[in-house]
Amino acid sequence: MDSSQYERLKYLISRLVSYIHDYARETRLSMAEWETAINFMTEVGQKCTKTRQEFVLFSDVIGLSLLVDALDHPKPKGATEGTVLGPFHTDDAADTSNGGDINSDPDGDPLLVVGKVLDMKGRPVEDVAADVWETDSHGFYDVQYANRDGPHGRAILHTNANGEFWFKGIVPVSYPVPVDGPVVSDPIMIQSARLTERSGGLSSCHGNHPYRPAHIHFLMEKDGFDEYITALPLRGDPYEPHDPVFGVKASLVVDLGKVDQATAQKYNVKSGIKLPEHEFVLVTNEEAAALRREEAEHVLGSDVDRPVPAGK
Ligand SMILES: [Fe+2]
Repeated sequence: MDSSQYERLKYLISRLVSYIHDYARETRLSMAEWETAINFMTEVGQKCTKTRQEFVLFSDVIGLSLLVDALDHPKPKGATEGTVLGPFHTDDAADTSNGGDINSDPDGDPLLVVGKVLDMKGRPVEDVAADVWETDSHGFYDVQYANRDGPHGRAILHTNANGEFWFKGIVPVSYPVPVDGPVVSDPIMIQSARLTERSGGLSSCHGNHPYRPAHIHFLMEKDGFDEYITALPLRGDPYEPHDPVFGVKASLVVDLGKVDQATAQKYNVKSGIKLPEHEFVLVTNEEAAALRREEAEHVLGSDVDRPVPAGK
């Protein structure tokens, strides 16, 4: 860690401590409440494993994940919007050739996904690594199975010279965020996150519920471009309007078309299967940095270049 990183870390921790002290003073926090909070955070940590990330879920349901993505990966007008990474991304997806089948679920409704990656000037971007993952037909990611023997329902594709990538999968289905951990099983937490408990399950509160609308996740990386994280929800899903982790953005909702004869021939798939298509417009590191600075200046003014803003 260099000295600037150290100063930044000191600043982040000192501000956190300051806000927590203010919180305790404002709420007149009792010892019993402090113990409850300590126990809750302990349970969140104990629930985490190599393939289960309860802290990410915690961050997601309180809207922090979406906020941090918006701050760190700002998108100018014309770029494709980002959204939450979620707790189910892994680092073991296999590099897969375009046209590969990423989901072996025999009960799934087959689909072909066709994507195209462009820069802000409309030029195709070649050799983007597109890390994709989706549920099986029962609404589970592979990491939710105790007997997982490797990656399923996930792969890394690479765009060709035209910026295109495509793969076979299944139509993902809506699923509840994990309800067997402290984050969503705690009734107070649930209410705070606009969820509530009903008969051992979860139901809507202020129009919300634990179900995420069916979607496909994408994480794209390419040297010179800002890391891009998003997910495409399927139009018409009943849970689309009330995602419990606030991850649905109107511009990301995709229609499920159908593969026609010509498309079937081109991609070597059966005609009639489902077909979501989408163009992704990525921003360069320079474009993201310029917008990040512009937004920071708007909030911090002349303090923008200080790891520890003056007067804090
Ligand atoms: Fe998901």
